[in-house]
Amino acid sequence: MAKPRILICDDEAEILRYLRKLLNGQGYEVETFDSGSRLLQRLETEEGGDLLLQDVRMPDMDGLAVFRKVKEYRPGLPVIIMTAYGSIDAAVEAIKLGAYDYITKPFPKEKILGVLENLFEREQLLQENRQLRDELHGTAASGSMVFRSRKFREVYDFTLQVAASESNILILGESGTGKELIASTIHHSSPRRGAPFYSINCAALTETLLESQLFGHVRGAFTGAFATQKGILAEADGSTLFLDEVGDMSLAVQAKLLRVIQEGEFIPVGSTRPKSVDIRFVAATNKDLETEIRAGRFREDFYYRLNVITINLPPLRERIDDIEPMARHFLSRFAARMKKEVNDLSPEAVRLLQSYHWPGNARELENVMERSVILARGATITPDALPMRSAAPLQASGGAGPNISLETLEREHIRQVLAANNYHKSRSAEILGISRKTLDRKIVEYGLAVPA
Ligand SMILES: Nc1ncnc2c1ncn2[C@@H]1O[C@H](COP(=O)(O)OP(=O)(O)OP(=O)(O)O)[C@@H](O)[C@H]1O
Ligand SMILES: [Mg+2]
Repeated sequence: MAKPRILICDDEAEILRYLRKLLNGQGYEVETFDSGSRLLQRLETEEGGDLLLQDVRMPDMDGLAVFRKVKEYRPGLPVIIMTAYGSIDAAVEAIKLGAYDYITKPFPKEKILGVLENLFEREQLLQENRQLRDELHGTAASGSMVFRSRKFREVYDFTLQVAASESNILILGESGTGKELIASTIHHSSPRRGAPFYSINCAALTETLLESQLFGHVRGAFTGAFATQKGILAEADGSTLFLDEVGDMSLAVQAKLLRVIQEGEFIPVGSTRPKSVDIRFVAATNKDLETEIRAGRFREDFYYRLNVITINLPPLRERIDDIEPMARHFLSRFAARMKKEVNDLSPEAVRLLQSYHWPGNARELENVMERSVILARGATITPDALPMRSAAPLQASGGAGPNISLETLEREHIRQVLAANNYHKSRSAEILGISRKTLDRKIVEYGLAVPA
């Protein structure tokens, strides 16, 4: 690693001077800021910086507010909080929000150098991980994430950074944004990667299934329990367990899992002996859990146990730069799978993909590309193999342009009527003056996307 650059923000000139001298002496580059606003200004306008040491008690701005902004501008920047005795609460809060560590003032030289050394060692590891991942790319396509936007790069870096810790993680994002893929990335970039990655879909877990699926049972625990079943919690001991759709978990199940997270142990059905387990939990949902808590559908204590660190996956429409590389990635995957010689996207097709709003995010893009490979007539995907249309040409020409085929026109018109009527098929059929059956046939024929 090149000389790491450390940013330090503290209102006490004495501290800044001391740290600068100490860290320069160890070969680090140092930049100092005597106020939160100066620091934020720097982060907003300039790149660079491998680590931030930040005081959380400063006169000009609430230190935690500054920290939140820092995380917003630079989610991937590791931050060590500096705090005086008596303001530990703020430091703990910052850790929950994603700070790497904290140190209490006055800090002895060894303490601070130790923390830095740890951190940079870990960063080095992450760097190597990332390189390995990049090298694997192409071959290990299904497991790897594709992106180009800066926004996603930061989320991804943050993910690798928190993967290395043992903390539980909550992944939030609209449906299809890649939550499951990120969960598996976390596991495979963590010290637990040697073990298999375990995953359960909480929406599918009824309470009865839960008992034996999660906790396992001993032989003879109930009629039909002929053999001892281990249960996923026991299986996942020493590994990562992904709780998918955690927002749909019943309150009773939440209560049971809360105990496992808190005590690190559980009792298999029919047994009297508690079993202790060491599991890292990663959970995901597209629900707003705070709303669920207020509505009494989600336990607040469970939420805090899971949500030690949050990863927010931005929707695809907020990272348009990712659309093209992802589309090409899916394209080559489906072309290979279907053994079709399709390998390119026309510039018009790229523009069309980029102008669409992607309510179904990456999953929808994946489906669109699969379909386009099926429909492709040549090596290059053109807009007619894509289900979405920019409504512009039809409307701009006050109806049909002179160079549009009847078929295209019909397809586009049906699409617009469906969209305008919220995909209510009977109503759309009535407006179009065709039977519901004909509409269904045309939807299939034209490959129109109709949300379930
Ligand atoms: N950045 C990416 N690069 C490559 N593939 C991606 C990327 N993001 C998502 N995908 C793919 O898109 C599909 C949807 O992703 P995933 O299942 O992880 O989303 P999700 O957020 O869990 O969706 P849901 O909320 O519907 O469960 C998967 O096939 C996944 O592999
Ligand atoms: Mg999912």
